[in-house]
Amino acid sequence: MSTADLSVGDPRVGDLRVGVVGAGAMGADHVRRISRTITGATVSAVVEPDAGRRATAIELAPGATGYVRLEDALAAGAVDAVLIATPGRFHEPVLLPALDAGLPILCEKPLTQDPESSWRVLEAEQATGKHLIQVGFMRRFDREYALLRDLIAEKSAGELLMLHAAHRNATVPDSYTQDMLITDSVVHEFDVVPWLAGSTIRTVEVRYGRRNRLTPAHLREPILVLMELDNGVLVDVEMNVSVQFGYQVATEAVFEKGIARIGQPSGLQLWQDATFRIGDHADFTTRFREAYDLQVQAWVDAAKQGAIAGPSAWDGFKVAVACQAGVAALKTAGPVALDLPPVPSFYADAAHPAAATV
Ligand SMILES: NC(=O)c1ccc[n+]([C@@H]2O[C@H](COP(=O)([O-])OP(=O)(O)OC[C@H]3O[C@@H](n4cnc5c(N)ncnc54)[C@H](O)[C@@H]3O)[C@@H](O)[C@H]2O)c1
Repeated sequence: MSTADLSVGDPRVGDLRVGVVGAGAMGADHVRRISRTITGATVSAVVEPDAGRRATAIELAPGATGYVRLEDALAAGAVDAVLIATPGRFHEPVLLPALDAGLPILCEKPLTQDPESSWRVLEAEQATGKHLIQVGFMRRFDREYALLRDLIAEKSAGELLMLHAAHRNATVPDSYTQDMLITDSVVHEFDVVPWLAGSTIRTVEVRYGRRNRLTPAHLREPILVLMELDNGVLVDVEMNVSVQFGYQVATEAVFEKGIARIGQPSGLQLWQDATFRIGDHADFTTRFREAYDLQVQAWVDAAKQGAIAGPSAWDGFKVAVACQAGVAALKTAGPVALDLPPVPSFYADAAHPAAATV
């Protein structure tokens, strides 16, 4: 019996035995997080084809067993839950056996890389009769995003009118492609914007402006991504991956009678030599460290009760549809409409789970 089948207070409820699949940058970070930071879970298996990365991750989680394929860890009965941190194109082949085994899953973003494969995953989850998949859109666990969502919902500054967002990276590796501006970066906005605004994305448009001379030769950016939501709210996202100076993810919300900002620098303040400085982030690992911790803790706590505590597979599917429209918009003048089917009844109540109660 897996701990996910046991009720709270049952003396058999111990640590959730997590199999981490993919021990690259994100997977190794999650192994460290589960072993050293959060409570109620241990890493019992590291599934990673690369022997060096597998060994390095196991050093972070003494007691874990290494496997090359998830199927081998499942056959050994080694895991109660699965955390997927393989590259996006390998999510579906890991999700399907994990669903088949009926295990709770935290799947790093994206759910999959296109709507067709995401739909197959939805069908496989529905066949289990349980909500097993939580998608790793961790911005929902960032305290400031949660505060902004509350402000929008309570309407104390009036109705939300617009969101101005910026996602800026110092640089990106050569492997980063033009489509990844959408599928790897704006993908986060495609999840968090509807969650913040309580509405669905209707259209996506991409505008190109003056190119940064420091942008890698194979990229054309920064870009401005414009979204129109069903409730009339307009959203613009500056997507900019060559800013050189550091990492920023920030949003300004425009209300009927107020303005709110999140993601402003909050590090060390220093006054020296007639100058004022504030420490800021170099990359996402520090900017969202607390959000990653809260996300994995919430997932572990919920998994032990047979539930999820964050973005569902349906949310992941909607993001895949938005990414498809966004990639088309990179090559299209004007807005591209999203082609979303009706929400299956299985997901109707879980479409906006109350995640990030922080
Ligand atoms: N939430 C975030 O902010 C955030 C940030 C970075 C990456 N990610 C996501 O995390 C995931 C991993 O990204 P990364 O940067 O760690 O990638 P990475 O390339 O550093 O690591 C991926 C690892 O998966 C392994 N792998 C590939 N196929 C596998 C399989 N079938 N079974 C087991 N292991 C397999 C590879 O050998 C590699 O070690 C991606 O989905 C990415 O989008 C999320």
